[in-house]
Amino acid sequence: MAAKRPDLRTTPYLDAISEYAARDPARLHVPGHKGGPGADGELARVIGVDALRHDIPALTWGIDVGPLPTAFEQAQVLAAQAWGARRTWFLVNGASQGNVTAAMTLAHRGAEVVVQRNAHSSTIDGLILSGLRPTFVAPELDAELGIAHCLTIETLDLALAATPGAAGAWIVSPTYFGAAADVRSLAEVAHSHGVPLIVDEAWGAHLAFHAALPEDALAAGADLVISSTHKLVGSLTQSAMLHLGTASLLDAEIVDRCVTLTESTSPNSLFFASLDAARRLAVTRGSELIEETLRALVGARAQIRQIPGLDVLDERFVGRAGVVAYDPLRLAVDVRGLNADGYEVARLLRERSDINLELAGQNVIVGVFGIAGPAAPLAERFVLSLRDAAAEIGPATEHAAERFAPPPPWGELVLTPREAFLGPQEVVPSGRAAGRVAAESLAAYPPGIPNVLPGERLTAETLAYIARTLELGGSVRGASDRRLRTIRVAVR
Ligand SMILES: Cc1ncc(COP(=O)(O)O)c(C=O)c1O
Repeated sequence: MAAKRPDLRTTPYLDAISEYAARDPARLHVPGHKGGPGADGELARVIGVDALRHDIPALTWGIDVGPLPTAFEQAQVLAAQAWGARRTWFLVNGASQGNVTAAMTLAHRGAEVVVQRNAHSSTIDGLILSGLRPTFVAPELDAELGIAHCLTIETLDLALAATPGAAGAWIVSPTYFGAAADVRSLAEVAHSHGVPLIVDEAWGAHLAFHAALPEDALAAGADLVISSTHKLVGSLTQSAMLHLGTASLLDAEIVDRCVTLTESTSPNSLFFASLDAARRLAVTRGSELIEETLRALVGARAQIRQIPGLDVLDERFVGRAGVVAYDPLRLAVDVRGLNADGYEVARLLRERSDINLELAGQNVIVGVFGIAGPAAPLAERFVLSLRDAAAEIGPATEHAAERFAPPPPWGELVLTPREAFLGPQEVVPSGRAAGRVAAESLAAYPPGIPNVLPGERLTAETLAYIARTLELGGSVRGASDRRLRTIRVAVR
């Protein structure tokens, strides 16, 4: 007899913690607030006594220990089924934990990896922790907008051919701005070189739930997918998932070990419950809710296009090198037609209308919508304030048209990120740093793509480029000295 398929409308983990809290058990275990009575009164008021009652530790009978499969295991099986994974892990330290876990997993297969250069900082942290030697591959740069898109198939193919010892290839899709790569072809390329494709799909947990959205990485054949469920699918901040592809080249037991390695022994039950519940919402109502959001955003896009000095990025991305689709839940607005940069527009929106954006860059500001929630009124408020801000700022002048130049090529990798990060180091004036090997990351923002990573040789061109960005009002991320008067370098 065929095994009974679990019911996707149920929430086993959420139900299990709910039952435990309802029983009023004797809590001779952590946390010390004892389900609420021991908590500060103001905290209880702000997060609610119910949240405290459901804050239940790991290794609680009937929740994650006891008769198999436990409620915790069942919840993860349902998530795997919902996203189309062979196995899914709930994470309590965000997609950041997923990236570090992926690095530690890959390090079981070899010492090198091919990585998209504009990877999230947690990927670089994963390289430091695992000791992997990266071969970086450049994403396609959008010189006009000053932002980075995705990897092309040819670029990945060449990088893998040049790195025969690679344990895997690691890409980001969709990007912060909503551009989606041709993951299907990239997976084929990786597999033709005999390596797994890791996809940092932190921004794409919702893609599996509506046909009009770009194809999700698991459906496209990725081997391991990092998913920041909290970003757009509605679980609590910090909760995320890691999915193993159905035909993955990676070993589930090794991924499991690496999840344990990167996780607290006291994961928060509210995070797990929120993942269980968000999965149910996405499966049962995702398509209908996304449809509503998409409809609201079609109108908002048209209205923003009518505002002098503003434009909306979406289909315009598609067809650029490396980009095959666009995620419409991002409302990315091109502000180059205004006499102010994106930072200033964002400041004005915040100060005048309490509009708080996900991202502001030199040329583009981005508002993010979730699969559910009040898309129409939110979009309307955004459009109205944009109209006021644009009128107040006025159209771009010749002078304002000065743009950031594309960054110079990154320096040669002399040490692995781990060797540089942990090895002997000193702080030198940045004027004397050219030719030295960086012990820290430097990413001039905009556009925020790392110019220097630990282990790379600092070049005079890159240092001049970052200094120029600072002069133009940009910033540098990752540096221990934010004004770049000094830089931390390796001593060899
Ligand atoms: C591409 C990418 N990967 C990973 C992360 C980390 O996600 P989390 O904040 O859930 O740890 C982010 C966060 O913005 C991201 O943009």
